[in-house]
Parts: sequence; C-alpha cells; structure tokens
Amino acid sequence: NFMGQILDVHQQEQQLIELLGIDHVLIVAGDSDDQPRVLKDIGRLVNETLRLLLPDGENIIAVMGGTTMAQVAKKLTPKLSVGRQLTFVPARGGIGEAVDIQANTVSATMAKHTGGSHRMLYVPEHVSKETYKTLLQEPSVQEVLQLIGKCNTVLHSIGEATLMAQRRGMSAEVIDMIKSEQAVAEAFGYFFNEAGEVVYKIPRIGLQIRDLDHIPYVFAIAGGHSKATAIQAYMKNAPSQTWLITDEGAAKQILKGV
Ligand code: BG6
Repeated sequence: NFMGQILDVHQQEQQLIELLGIDHVLIVAGDSDDQPRVLKDIGRLVNETLRLLLPDGENIIAVMGGTTMAQVAKKLTPKLSVGRQLTFVPARGGIGEAVDIQANTVSATMAKHTGGSHRMLYVPEHVSKETYKTLLQEPSVQEVLQLIGKCNTVLHSIGEATLMAQRRGMSAEVIDMIKSEQAVAEAFGYFFNEAGEVVYKIPRIGLQIRDLDHIPYVFAIAGGHSKATAIQAYMKNAPSQTWLITDEGAAKQILKGV
C-alpha cells in the first residue's frame, strides 16, 4: 500500500544517510534505468528541493553536463526564481560531451526554464597549450571563472567510470590506465576507485573537487541500479553537506550490498 511504500522509502533514505556518511538523501520511487518517467520525477524533486533550500537574493549555480542533468534542467520552473536572482554557469570547461548534454547547454536550459540568466564558458576541447593559455586571458572567460569561484550551489551527476571514459572519447591509453586503477565512478571529470580515491582527472579549468568543501549547496543527482557502485564509491569522500537525489533502483542495489 501507498503509506507502506512511503515508509519504505523513508527508511531507505535513513539507511543511505548512515551508510554513505552524507547529510541528506532523497529517493524517488522506481528505477530510472527501466522507466524514463523516474528521471523526470527526479528532476521535479530537484526543483522542489532547491525551491525550499536556496537563500533569497542572488544565487550562482554551477552545473555539470550529462543526460541526467539535461533531463533535470527541463523540470526546473520559474517558481525557483521567486525572491531570487539565479545565475547558471557551467562548472568546468568542456570535458567532451555531445552538444545537447554539455554543461553550457544544461546551464542555458536551466536559465530558460527558471527565468534566470546564464553565462557560457567558451573553451574548446582540442586546442594547443598556447591557444588554451591565450583563451584563458580573455575577459569573457575570466568573468565566468570568477562567477564559478563565487557559486553557492553545484549540481552534478555521477557516472560509471568506463562508460564515461568511452563517451568522452578518451584515448585508449587513458582508458587502460583507468581500468588498471580500477576506477568505478566518475564525476565532473574526476575518476574514482571503490574507496572513493581520485585515480585520474581530466585537466580542465573551473570548479575543482576540493572547492566543493566550501560550497553550501551541493547536489549529486544520479539514479538507476546500474549506477549503484559508482554512487557508493563517489560518496566515500564526497563533502558531507552533499544532497544525494536518487531513485529506489539505485538505493535498493546499494543497500543489497550491506
Ligand atoms: C555529469 C557529471 O553531471 O554527469 C559527470 O559531471 C557524470 O561527471 C555524468 O559522469 C553522468 O552522466 P549521465 O549521462 O549518466 O547523467
């Protein structure tokens, strides 16, 4: 029955809070690997949680890319902007994704859906070191980097290491290295082993993992049973203020291993 289900979910949230050592876990019913609807529910829950949580006034929200983030972006609403000015920025320079799931695109979509504003970070993938250095001097790039440095909120997902390395077209050498280091999780271009240690990092400007510690609102949004191992590994060293927003598919799979 319905009440029983709610109690179940609440219990799972408590169990995950203890197991993963983070302050907040929210679980949506279902498994997003099997039902696309679940990802939309995750997006609605993110919207609702941000609405209740974010302070009035100016908020700078740094976002990552990926299919999860792209779906979440579509579920944000203008309600989020009541009493607030929202500025969305990509958290890091391009780490190799298709246009529709790039952080720049996600941040633009979020601005559109909430009535907020956004800034693009124009740093191409494959340019020489010299060009890269010159680009970094550009005032428009500097301006966005400064905004990223001032963000109070970060929204990101978590992926499976090998899958993400392949999707990003990383070289065979790097993929082999990641495998031999037994990476299981990836988040914002960092790869983690089961103990949650960083074993590889795609060098990019913008937000670095150590910056997360000082950011009050950090949301890790990832669902589906296939992401259970990745979520658990990433959470080993994740900042404790992180909110994990996930689904029952991932939650049950993580709790099975206990
Ligand atoms: C992004 C993260 O938000 O989501 C990546 O920055 C992560 O590091 C990715 O791997 C997961 O992608 P997807 O498509 O599974 O949502």
